[in-house]
Amino acid sequence: MKHAKKVAELQAKQAEALLGGGLTRQEAQHKKGKLTARERIDLLLDPGSFEEIGMLVMHRSRHFGLDKQQFLGDGVVTGYGSIHGRRVYVFSQDFTVLGGSLAEAHAEKICRLMDMALKNGAPVIGLNDSGGARIQEGVVSLGGYADIFYRNTKASGVIPQISAIMGPCAGGAVYSPAITDFILMVEDTSYMFVTGPNVVKTVTHEEVSSEELGGASTHASKSGVTHFTCTTETDAVRHIRRLLSYLPQNCEEKPPHLPYESGDESRPALNSLLPENPNQPYDMKEVIREILDADSFMEVHKEFAENMVVGFGRLGGRCLGVVANQPAFLAGVLDIKSSTKAARFVRFCDAFNIPLLVLEDVPGFLPGTDQEWNGIITHGAKLLYAFSEATVPRITVITRKAYGGAYDVMNSKHIGADMNYAWPTAEIAVMGAKGAAEIIFRAEIASAEDPQAKWKEKEQEYAERFANPYEAAARGYIDEVILPGQTREKLMKAYSMLSNKVEWLPRKKHGNIPL
Ligand code: HXC
Repeated sequence: MKHAKKVAELQAKQAEALLGGGLTRQEAQHKKGKLTARERIDLLLDPGSFEEIGMLVMHRSRHFGLDKQQFLGDGVVTGYGSIHGRRVYVFSQDFTVLGGSLAEAHAEKICRLMDMALKNGAPVIGLNDSGGARIQEGVVSLGGYADIFYRNTKASGVIPQISAIMGPCAGGAVYSPAITDFILMVEDTSYMFVTGPNVVKTVTHEEVSSEELGGASTHASKSGVTHFTCTTETDAVRHIRRLLSYLPQNCEEKPPHLPYESGDESRPALNSLLPENPNQPYDMKEVIREILDADSFMEVHKEFAENMVVGFGRLGGRCLGVVANQPAFLAGVLDIKSSTKAARFVRFCDAFNIPLLVLEDVPGFLPGTDQEWNGIITHGAKLLYAFSEATVPRITVITRKAYGGAYDVMNSKHIGADMNYAWPTAEIAVMGAKGAAEIIFRAEIASAEDPQAKWKEKEQEYAERFANPYEAAARGYIDEVILPGQTREKLMKAYSMLSNKVEWLPRKKHGNIPL
């Protein structure tokens, strides 16, 4: 009893202590449009499930007046609880305590939590809101960050790691979230950068605001650092809960499989979804939604490299990772950003036993000096590598174009896909008929009486031979040419057939993906 009273007293004293400006901790956070560390945890976890660890931990520093500033928990709330009844470990930084800054004790608490999560095989969720390394504690703070980075790396591919950015995240502090699997940022109240606007101005003379430099929309669309932008913290929490519903607890488990009642396998709407003209765009997300279970698609990296769509979904209750070219954006071309985006997603799915579905409509790689000089060779190879090493069930459906190297890269059977289907509209060739005719019939076209007519004739000849799926199907590169409306049913059967797939890569320390 005496103990409970003592803790309650300490907690109340801390909560009531007024910050600069005469505000309580809660008021200070709410004024900035933010929740407190504990309010965030309460929203995130199943009601009443949170068990706190290390509430009484305090820092041990005596420098720069810190001996007079002691706070329970040292600026971070850590513990475990559940989401949808499944165990998760969570830490939530408290900006009202020394700016949520990280130093020895704060880092030790996070490290202990990560060690427990790793040993017990459950996800770690970090709710970040911190001014970075605690300046008063010097190198100890830097060491604390490195201790976390080290654990992030060890845990990578073993347990899912999710970082929500709910305030500042600056300096080297950004590298812990960067190593985790998913980053979520809250619009207007969060930002991430290695060096802030002031340093940028001194070094490069650029004038840029925090928001522009490292706000949620910047990282969603320009850098691709964040996977999700959320309108509010409540929205971020909702995203985390939904995301976890697709993931297994660790790399030894399969993802959750929801109950499913058959009867909706046929999707006739797909038969008329593609435009008559093969050069006209259509929205691949409509195809995805038609194929998957109703409302089950959760898009990842939505605003980044929109020519590639990736995300989680369910098919007959089974969780899938979807990777799809988007003809409605840059004609679905493969470029540096889209290759990198898809490669990372493929590797996540493979690490956590999530089968892959590829929907392919790709005219090839994007030509140009910008792409070549920035390394499309290396970056495109990432996607090739990621698919080639993935051992989860993998199926491709070619809806329309599958041209050139992009045909190989987009989960072709040659690089280990288990089943490949094509719609009758599929075109599988080294390049488009027009370009192909120009190259291989150059002399014939040049010497013709009417070169334009000859070119057209040769283009047609090439298209008839290759702009279809039958040549590839005759060689077994395509397992079956199916009507679009049958796709869902065919896929359900195929994933069920592949559900016990086991494949091992050659023994090695680790591969050398072209980074
Ligand atoms: C100690 C800190 C702190 C820090 C903030 N505070 N950051 N204390 N170490 N890193 C304290 C402030 O002194 C203040 O205390 C309280 O937290 C709230 O901060 P404010 O500045 O009043 O808040 P706000 O105006 O919202 O500005 C937030 C901020 C700013 C933009 C984050 O505080 C800031 O620029 N902090 C320093 C950021 C930084 O440079 N961090 C080091 C990055 S380098 P009082 O007592 O006045 O309320 C790094 C290296 C990591 O992190 C290395 C890993 C490899």
